[in-house]
This record gives sequence, structure tokens and C-alpha cells, in this order.
Amino acid sequence: MSNSVLITGGAGFIGSNFVHHWCSKYDTRVVVLDILGYAGNESSLADLKDQDGFQLVKGDICDRELVTSLLAKEEISTVIHFAAESHVDRSILGPAAFVQTNVVGTFTLLEAFRQHWQNQGKPEDYRFLHVSTDEVYGSLEADDPAFTETTPYAPNSPYSASKAGSDHLARAYFHTYGMPTLITNCSNNYGPYQFPEKLIPLMCLNILLGKPLPVYGDGQNVRDWLHVSDHCSAIDTVLHKANPGDVYNIGGNNQVKNLDIVHQLCDLMSELAAGSSVNLPTSPRDLITFVTDRPGHDRRYAMDISKIEKDLGWTPAYNFETGLRQTVEWYLSNRDWWQPLLSAEYKGYYENLYGDR
Ligand code: NAD
Ligand code: DAU
Repeated sequence: MSNSVLITGGAGFIGSNFVHHWCSKYDTRVVVLDILGYAGNESSLADLKDQDGFQLVKGDICDRELVTSLLAKEEISTVIHFAAESHVDRSILGPAAFVQTNVVGTFTLLEAFRQHWQNQGKPEDYRFLHVSTDEVYGSLEADDPAFTETTPYAPNSPYSASKAGSDHLARAYFHTYGMPTLITNCSNNYGPYQFPEKLIPLMCLNILLGKPLPVYGDGQNVRDWLHVSDHCSAIDTVLHKANPGDVYNIGGNNQVKNLDIVHQLCDLMSELAAGSSVNLPTSPRDLITFVTDRPGHDRRYAMDISKIEKDLGWTPAYNFETGLRQTVEWYLSNRDWWQPLLSAEYKGYYENLYGDR
């Protein structure tokens, strides 16, 4: 029996970090299925391109024929499903793509995998791990307790609503068909290879380019930040140790206000640039610009991770200060990775965001 792994969205931020994590640890054959859209980047996997046992397939998770043939041909026993439209601002501007990829795409994968698993006689070691988000639980007030795995779903953006829909489907496939699904809900990730539309890389690049640093609303929204390597180790742990049907929250025990992160990034960039050949066009803190808030902006997220700590012995390893410093250093030293992403389309997207920036 072969033991190949299908990683969807493996050319994106978390997916590519996970592919590296996996390939450095296991010998199993890895097939990445990624549409290579704006957030999917072949160069994030360039070092693996010619490695035996690694294959990148350009394709859509909504393409049932392609997914069915890959599962059979590659003898896939495990699916780790990252592929998604992932950016909240984009979901506000164009929700249809989120319903298509996140709901219809996840359904297509689940249905194809169900048929494949049944055709193989329902092997006990098959797994379908669905990667999801803390945003499905909605928004917390300052004093509310953190989200647990039993917090009722209350998604507030088209992005989180589409992820909630996909979570419900993954859950239903376990309860109805006994298909061995697992669901992980994780907080905000940061680290290398993140597309520069998300808070941390966007601020790093705008500081380097001397562009305004757009802080939404009053900048007091709170996110629970986790280094992407910790997310990868948590998924690996859940995959190998959890029981089919289980759901686990993943987070960093690390709640930070947006404005505090922006200040930290300004100071880190100034410090690191001073010790290098990089010349910052202007003093970073002078670039901070408060802009119109994101519509429906969730105030606070926080994850209670006691279940994964207690059941599976996983805990985050990174300290935020060290992780943020390493991330800034990575963006400073990897201009070749991010420079090509500053295309006309990308710039136009930001200039037109909600019409005022
Ligand atoms: P990303 O946008 O960087 O990557 C998504 C990847 O999916 C890209 O490579 C893209 O090309 C691919 N993709 C999109 N549509 C596809 C389709 N129809 N068919 C095949 N591939 C397609 O996103 P990310 O930040 O790496 O997030 C990965 C997963 O983790 C998502 O499911 C997201 O909801 C979840 N998540 C993200 C975070 C975070 O902080 N970034 C936190 C928790 C959960
Ligand atoms: O919580 C997990 C989620 O984290 C993931 O499911 C999503 O895929 C991921 O995109 C992320 O969502 P957020 O909306 O929290 O991340 P983002 O980086 O877009 O924004 C982080 C916070 O910073 C949020 O409160 C909005 C704010 N922000 C963001 C941008 C891009 C700004 O103030 N200015 C900005 O320019």
C-alpha cells in the first residue's frame, strides 16, 4: 500500500511552510495541488522542484475529474487541505470566489476522497485534515474568555462564513459517512513566504518602499499571533495523534493589538536597516496612517489551546519577539521573493481598497 500525501494550497504561505516541514521530516511521496493564483508562488517551493517524491500539480480543487484522478493515480492516503481564498479584505470586495473555492472546492475534495476511501475498502489509516481558522467563532470583547472548540460558530465576514461552511461539511463527512476527517482552527500566522497583503508583510514592505502604513480604525483590534512553524508542527501532531472526527484549536497564547505590532515593526526595521546596507526612505513611524475601518472588523480573537496541549502534548515553541525579528530579517534578505509580487494588479488592488487608500 502506498502512502502518498496530497497537500492542497501547498504553494501558499502556510502550505509552502508545511511542505518544507513535511519533506524535511518524512520520506512519503508529496503531491501539491495548487491553482497558482495570486497567492500561490512556485518560487516558495523552488528548492524541492527536482526532489524525488515531490510533485507540484497546477490545478483547481473544484475540478472533480482532476481531483479524482490524482487521488487514484497517486495512491493518496492523506489529504492536508490548505487551499483557500484567505484574505478578509478581498472577501468583502468579491465574496463569490470565496464561496466557490472555500465551500464548493472543499466539498469537491471531500466527495472525491470519500469515493476513493470507499473504493479502497475504507482503510483505517486514511485521513483528511481540513485546515481552518479562529475567525469562524466571530469576535470577542476585551474581557471575554478565549474561544474553545465548543464556542458556537458566529462568522462575520464572507471569508469566515465560507470557512465555517467548509468546516461544517468536513464535520458532516465524519458523522454521516464515518470518513476520517480532522479539523484544525488556528489563529493569525506570521513568518516567511506570506503574501504582502496581510498585516505583517504589508507593513514591512511599505516601510522599505516609504509608503503609508494603513492602520484600520483605531488600531486597537487584537489578534492571537502564532509563528507559521508552530502551526505546521501542530498540524503534524493532530494528523498523527488525533482520533478521526476530532477538532483542535491552535494558537500562540499571544494576544497583541495591531498598533503595537506596527510600532514593533517600525522599530525593528529601523534597527535592522541601520546595521545593513538597506537605506529606509523615511522614518517608519512617520508613515503610520489611520484609515477607514474594515467593514464588520472583528475586534478581538483569542484561542484557548488547552485541549491540544492536554490531549496531544503540543505547545507553541516560538517567542513572538524572536519570531517577529526573524520574519523581518527574512523579508529584508529575500527581496527576490517579494519584488515580483509588486505587480500593477497588486498595487491597483490596494489603491482601490474600499475607495480611500
Ligand atoms: P494563502 O492565500 O497564502 O494560500 C492559499 C493557497 O491556496 C494559494 O497557494 C492559492 O494559489 C491556493 N488556492 C486558492 N484557490 C485554489 C483553488 N481553487 N484550487 C487550488 N488551489 C487554490 O493562504 P494561507 O494564509 O497560507 O492559508 C492557508 C489555509 O490556512 C487557508 O485554508 C486559511 O483559511 C487557513 N488559515 C490561515 C491563517 C493565516 O493566518 N494565514 C490562519 C488560520 C487558518
Ligand atoms: O485569524 C486567522 C486569520 O488571520 C486567517 O484565517 C486569515 O486567512 C488571515 O488572513 C488572517 O486574517 P486577519 O484579517 O486577521 O489578517 P490581516 O493580516 O488581514 O489583518 C490583521 C489585522 O490587521 C486585522 O485586525 C486588520 C488589520 N490590518 C490589516 C491590514 C492588511 C490593518 O490595520 N491594516 C492593514 O493594511
